[in-house]
Amino acid sequence: MIKAITGTKDILPEDINKWNKVEAIVRNVMNNFNYKEIRTPVFEETALFSRGIGEATDIVSKEMYTFVDRSETSVTLKPEMTASVVRAFIEHSLGKKYGLNKLFYISPMFRQERPQAGRFRQFHQFGAEALGSDNPMLDAEMIITSYKVMTELGLKNLAVKINSLGIPSSRENYKKVLKEYLSDKFDQLSEDSQKRFETNILRIFDSKVEGDQKIMNEAPVLLDYLDEESKEKFEQVTSLLDGIKIPYEVDPKLVRGLDYYTHTTFEILSGSVGSQSALCGGGRYNLLVEQLGGAQTPGVGFAAGIERILLACENENSLTLPEESIDIYVVRLDKELTQKANEIAVTFRNANLSTELDYTQRSVKAQMREANRLNAKYTLIIGGEEYERGEVVLKEMKLGEQKIFKLNSLPDIISAIKSV
Ligand code: HAM
Repeated sequence: MIKAITGTKDILPEDINKWNKVEAIVRNVMNNFNYKEIRTPVFEETALFSRGIGEATDIVSKEMYTFVDRSETSVTLKPEMTASVVRAFIEHSLGKKYGLNKLFYISPMFRQERPQAGRFRQFHQFGAEALGSDNPMLDAEMIITSYKVMTELGLKNLAVKINSLGIPSSRENYKKVLKEYLSDKFDQLSEDSQKRFETNILRIFDSKVEGDQKIMNEAPVLLDYLDEESKEKFEQVTSLLDGIKIPYEVDPKLVRGLDYYTHTTFEILSGSVGSQSALCGGGRYNLLVEQLGGAQTPGVGFAAGIERILLACENENSLTLPEESIDIYVVRLDKELTQKANEIAVTFRNANLSTELDYTQRSVKAQMREANRLNAKYTLIIGGEEYERGEVVLKEMKLGEQKIFKLNSLPDIISAIKSV
């Protein structure tokens, strides 16, 4: 038997309402903040991600779904959207068309990570990218919008963490300081961190190994080594958040796993989902557009994992979903009436009523049972003496009230149902 690939998941009809709810809230919040939707292909040239995200990152070095296609091009299923959005921004000269581009997306992503609760190989993100302005208002806006989606979903157990990675030159200076601090502790570091010491020293802050964490707790932090301008920008972001009253915590150890960040980085974590607690991450990337071949253009963005958010919603029991129902179920007493029942059902459906009928020649009792199971507001019963008189029975299911209508007055039935 062929099963879904490890780390991928079917979203079944019983779960789809939750997804639709998240997506509706995302669209609404994004619309309120005037972000426009962008959709990019599921796969791109591999070089886009290796150059954009950074060769030494876990995503590029270990997790990408990369393959050579039949025309010998190395392609990769997108592990994140920022590089793709920037590629589209450059390719379509969006910077020339509009001074500031505020874009959002909802899309599947692919990373070959070890699957566990809240970690998948195909997962879904919603996110936003604002390209064309260095204003800290936009850094704050990324936190405000992502936080807003989560609170609208009823999530409570949230922590916003924020940091600044400054500009490359102050970061390089700081890396030297960190290297010096770690050099005489190198032997005590885990194997992974020892590798990172050479390739991506800041990521040692992300280590989950207790010994590493002890060492990193005492380490000098980048925030203390920022240049004046970066410090000022960071203060502007935090004071904007203070103004909106979003609770946050400055976390000087928040380094993020992608190389393109400059200045602000942030994450929103949930206390309700276990170890994969980052629901959302983002930050500013003022050099990425240029790195990918575009004109110097500042950018900032975030992405949030929908599976993790839904897990948090489930664990906090925060999602209220409307009860599922249909408007009307057309019951026929006699299988000879199949064509008539079908015609009536199509008329109702064309009038925008959600309508169901039996496809398996079931008994009247079974049809009524099905109508109840589907939570039909009404049933229309066709057949028997009424039908011979040219009439049908409309039954309101909650109160059990019945009303007789002429068979040729379907518009009256439609209005009766819609008027409730
Ligand atoms: P990221 O931190 O790699 O950032 O991913 C953002 C979010 O996607 C995570 O916080 C998590 O909720 C979700 N996520 C990541 N990997 C998985 C996975 N394997 N399974 C389930 N959920 C996952 C980015 O992707 C950046 N592009 C964010 C950004 C946009 N920065 C600036 N603009």
